[in-house]
Parts: sequence; C-alpha cells; structure tokens
Amino acid sequence: MNFYKNRNVYAFLSILLFVASFFVIESCSSKKLVAEKPGALLWGENCIRCHNAPSPSAFSDVQWETIAMHMKVRANLPEDDIIKIVEFLKMAN
Ligand code: HEC
Repeated sequence: MNFYKNRNVYAFLSILLFVASFFVIESCSSKKLVAEKPGALLWGENCIRCHNAPSPSAFSDVQWETIAMHMKVRANLPEDDIIKIVEFLKMAN
C-alpha cells in the first residue's frame, strides 16, 4: 500500500493540525489578556500581596510616584504594570 495514497494519513494529519491550532490560539489569547489588564486590576492583584492595598485617596499624586518606585522594586513588578497602577491611583484619588 502506498503511504501517500492512504487516506488515514491525511485524516490523522488534519486532526493533528486542528488540535495544534488550538494550542497556538490559546497561548496568543492568554498573553493578550495579561497585557490588557487595567491598572485597577493590577493594583488589586499585586498590592495586597504583602499588606492591605492602600486606598488611592490615602496619598497625593506626587506621593504615589515615590511610593510606586519603592513598591515596584519590593514587588518586582514590570515597568508597564507599575505605570498602569500609578495611572489608576492618580485617577482615583
Ligand atoms: C513584596 C511585598 C510588597 C508588595 C507586593 C507591595 N508592597 Fe507596599 N510595602 C511593602 C513593605 C514591606 C512596606 C513597608 C516597608 C517599606 O516601606 O519598605 C510597604 C509599604 C507601603 C506603603 C507605605 C505605607 C505607609 O503608611 O507609609 C505604601 C503606600 C505601599 N506599600 C503601597 C503599595 C502599593 C501601591 C503596592 C502595589 C503596587 C504595594 N505596596 C505592593 C511591601 C510590599
């Protein structure tokens, strides 16, 4: 029997491709989700890890700038995340 004329081979390959495409789509969409997390969510997720998440109204805009630099290092947060968190804190205070 000729390998390339066997229909099962093509059926198997197309199923394999179909399944593989799901993994590709899955990994792309979950990366996008992380990138699109808004500041308020990042604040809620990160700033409660070590202490109560401070209310945005607890500090002034200038104070938030300094605190954010400090907490970025403490929490080991990426630059993009801390920028979004500070934007949220300033907007909400
Ligand atoms: C890895 C643990 C950790 C994370 C995560 C963390 N903090 Fe802190 N934070 C601390 C520690 C420890 C202190 C107190 C000592 C210090 O100032 O270094 C503190 C102090 C503070 C203070 C000062 C409180 C006061 O009354 O003076 C503020 C405000 C603050 N954090 C805000 C934040 C915000 C906003 C985030 C989220 C971006 C955050 N923290 C995330 C550990 C953390």
